[in-house]
Amino acid sequence: MKIGHIKKVLETVDSTNELAKRWAKEGAEEGSVVIALEQTKGRGRSGKTWQSPNGEGLWMSIVLRPKLSPTYIPQLTLIAGQAVCEALRSITNSEVQIKWPNDIILNNKKIGGILCEMQCRAESVNYAIIGIGINVGMTHFPDTLPHASSFFIENNTNYNHEYIIESICQLFELYYNSFQKIKNISFIKEKYVDNCITLNKKVKIINNEKTYEAYVEDISDEGVLIVRNEVGELIEVFAGDVSVRGLYGYV
Ligand code: BTN
Repeated sequence: MKIGHIKKVLETVDSTNELAKRWAKEGAEEGSVVIALEQTKGRGRSGKTWQSPNGEGLWMSIVLRPKLSPTYIPQLTLIAGQAVCEALRSITNSEVQIKWPNDIILNNKKIGGILCEMQCRAESVNYAIIGIGINVGMTHFPDTLPHASSFFIENNTNYNHEYIIESICQLFELYYNSFQKIKNISFIKEKYVDNCITLNKKVKIINNEKTYEAYVEDISDEGVLIVRNEVGELIEVFAGDVSVRGLYGYV
């Protein structure tokens, strides 16, 4: 399966995820990619807005048609996170990390994120969209986003978007093909754990029903966060359900 062999590159779009969904409904092939210079309605997780000013970041979405049951889809976020982290590490020569499950971190600041969405029937996935946002060249952020940063702010360098896109597509293709065969993330787990800033930390787990403090002990082969709560019980935390915050700051 080739990722990025068919591309739509636009000057401006509401959201590359929305365009990718519309395209998928019209029959876009698996691996098709949408890239925009600007998003007017960029979206983050939990219904948040994603600032996407013209030419200052990398805003892209990948259309997938995995032959898997919908329960496997959250793992695609972790695979994409690993591909993005690895691509950025090698191109920018910086210690890029992942905050489980989907934040891309540099110097304890958020410099990117992944938004995975899908349309499914009971047992099959019609399409999944992997949205990737990377703050490459922004020079400032509003006070309302105190944890956000860009590569330009952190490294004082403007990186070439095309190299980054190319590298992400190549790595994601490799990992996605393996994932379809192996059906878990064991084959990248060692690397993911090395890059993951969330492990061995005290965190606050925030979901709809309750908020609690816990210590992060492990990540399973299925990408589930294994935490120990304050009374010593081990709890499985699933991506998609929660927000994880460090007790002493964002990560
Ligand atoms: C997050 O960390 O909350 C996820 C952010 C995802 C942003 C990207 S930018 C490209 C794609 N289109 C969107 O509207 N969102 C994703």
